[in-house]
Amino acid sequence: MTDAHPLDAPADPFEVAQTAAADIARLSGVARHDIAVTLGSGWGKAAELIGETVATIPATEITGFSKPAVEGHVGTIRSVRTPGGRNVLVIGARTHLFEGHGVRRVVHSVRTAAATGAKIMVLTNGAGGVKPGWKPGQPVLISDHINLTGRSPLEGATFIDMTDLYAQRLRDIALEVDPSLDSGVYCQFPGPQYETPAEVRMAGILGGDLVGMSTSLEAIAARQAGMELLGFSLVTNLAAGISPTPLDHQEVIDAGRQAEAVISGLLAKVIERL
Ligand code: HPA
Repeated sequence: MTDAHPLDAPADPFEVAQTAAADIARLSGVARHDIAVTLGSGWGKAAELIGETVATIPATEITGFSKPAVEGHVGTIRSVRTPGGRNVLVIGARTHLFEGHGVRRVVHSVRTAAATGAKIMVLTNGAGGVKPGWKPGQPVLISDHINLTGRSPLEGATFIDMTDLYAQRLRDIALEVDPSLDSGVYCQFPGPQYETPAEVRMAGILGGDLVGMSTSLEAIAARQAGMELLGFSLVTNLAAGISPTPLDHQEVIDAGRQAEAVISGLLAKVIERL
């Protein structure tokens, strides 16, 4: 934990992202990427369906990246070429805030994606469902978020508009692919403990439909980088107190596995149209 890390101050996190993007270009042979997608719990199979894998790079070979600490995350970065000829950077290594490495490392993959040239960022995650009627295994479009972490990736007096953060234009494209998709507001808690039932009730009262431990901070960084953003949650479980049974990480992984083929297919189809 005390080892120096490339993102530690006084480093400029945007310069480190440029170095990481150069690593990706060198290791993949792909100079620029058009779209980036972060695969959260349950979304891992999408990489194969998006297109042909040009290169698979262990995250640890890219400046500033870490091994994922969470089971169900893959730990590699891939360069994938879609049938339409676009280059997609598939990020299977997410650093969570609860790992305790600081917000710079949480959003480094997003800043790196922007530095590779990506103009569109797709963030996916596994989340607890708060909205009545939702079932485990269901994908949901993220319409907005509530950041309950008390943290931000922005440093200093960086005032950035957060309107239409999860771009309506991109959500409309996803809805063309699957008109049955429901939408919801994602609440990011710091974790790593799951929420108490009272916290889940609070999230619902505040206007939240999904609870999770990622995405919001990455979304803010994507906006700062000028990328257009699309977000998907997989409801891996009903949130605490809504579910009659205690929460279990294995349940989250199992729900992801069961839904994987369907939601990954959906994601691949949406990406082809972006
Ligand atoms: N809460 C927080 N994070 C999660 C959940 C949850 O219920 N399910 C999957 N990730």
